[in-house]
Amino acid sequence: MAKKQLPKLGLLYMDYVLRFFDKSNFKGWPDKIETVTYHWKNDKTRFINEVRRKNIDVLVGNIPATAYETFREISHALPHVRFIPSLETQFPNKSKENVTLFCTKHDIQQPKTGIFYDKEEGYDYLKKATYPQIIKRSYGPSNYGGYFVHKADSFAEAKELLDEKKYNPIYTQDAIPLKYSGDLRVMLIGHKPICAFWRFSGEGEWITNTSQGGSMSYENVPMNALELAVKASKAAKAEYWACDIAIDENTDEPYILECATAFAAFPYVRDWIGQYIMWDLSGGKFRMPHVPLFSWEELGKMDPSVLRTLRHLYFAKYEPSADGAYWLADKGNFDMELTDESVESDIPDSIEPLAEDKLPAAVKEAFVNSEDQKSSAQEGEKINFKEVTLTQLMSLYSMEEETALEIKQLIDDEKVETFDELEELECITPEQSSIWSKLFAKLPF
Ligand SMILES: Nc1ncnc2c1ncn2[C@@H]1O[C@H](COP(=O)(O)OP(=O)(O)O)[C@@H](O)[C@H]1O
Ligand SMILES: [Mg+2]
Repeated sequence: MAKKQLPKLGLLYMDYVLRFFDKSNFKGWPDKIETVTYHWKNDKTRFINEVRRKNIDVLVGNIPATAYETFREISHALPHVRFIPSLETQFPNKSKENVTLFCTKHDIQQPKTGIFYDKEEGYDYLKKATYPQIIKRSYGPSNYGGYFVHKADSFAEAKELLDEKKYNPIYTQDAIPLKYSGDLRVMLIGHKPICAFWRFSGEGEWITNTSQGGSMSYENVPMNALELAVKASKAAKAEYWACDIAIDENTDEPYILECATAFAAFPYVRDWIGQYIMWDLSGGKFRMPHVPLFSWEELGKMDPSVLRTLRHLYFAKYEPSADGAYWLADKGNFDMELTDESVESDIPDSIEPLAEDKLPAAVKEAFVNSEDQKSSAQEGEKINFKEVTLTQLMSLYSMEEETALEIKQLIDDEKVETFDELEELECITPEQSSIWSKLFAKLPF
């Protein structure tokens, strides 16, 4: 293929969001790689114009949950630009509800899940449910370390929790009795598992979050978990993909807990993804990365500080005449493949009530909740505005990720001193201001 036939590549970045890809992940790409950064808040038109002006054909990068709907509009305005991964593929990135809708549509095994926009319907379901239930805020794959994930052992506990948290929708799942008190993370490129490991919960914890004292192991990842991850990756048509999978200790059956294109990965994994994308976009001119199945067991023996600095790992294909170790010969039947092209109808139907139906309830809820927050704030410790953490901001009633990030940035840049200035800057609405202001301590003067 002649060099000029390669598509023009752009990397999609967002202000405040950690970058997954870097130009260095596309080692050997002969042309200039553009970057386009989304600045949030009314930046749609400018962003679209920049992509057009730079003649970008392919835009690579993850879109965070809050920007998902905006980027569906952006991608419609740019019909000739290929998004990698496509907006359809990124559907489960947006929320846990979307993960469930995705698994249901494609018949991918998941824990029995109830999603309710109507509180009473949700409570009726929870009265009859089997316990424990795992109740979650329906948010994107989070880095909040299970902050919005709760276990209820009875209806009374579930009700107490939801009366307090007021999650909408109510998202509740049968708890899977976790084999080895852990769950599995499986990462795939072109539908082939390239890394997988167990994550075990910390002492006395039920949540398997390594940031809460858990540990991990690359050994003994079961084949049925890999197969389920491949099924999900194919259904999503994902160039790259990760699944969190629970194994039922009684039946050994695997269940998807989360799946998304957004996940944390060492740089050498991102290099493989870059290589895979170059292989795809060049019609095979660039070499497809070869990653032997279970090579993670060997790489996983290295210290994470070493793994963090490894780059551009290259595995040759096993040749029987060469002196290769047995494990290099691929076990299992997983091939790295091109993904199918996404189509609009890949997106599952929404179950969310239309905005008009939802509005009165939402308004009512906000008032109910403002009273609750007032009383709890009077009893509890007030937050010093300048020391508020992103997690605290994120947990405020009806807070959007975008707004939380903006507030945090304003504080860090010392552009605001007091909570009241947020309303003056039109960063938050007067309604939000009146609800949230009670939680913040007034300055002593
Ligand atoms: N249905 C479930 N059954 C058993 N454990 C669960 C279930 N759902 C979540 N967990 C546990 O809680 C952890 C966090 O849940 P998850 O849905 O991954 O939320 P997040 O990562 O956004 O905090 C999981 O890694 C798992 O250990
Ligand atoms: Mg998780």
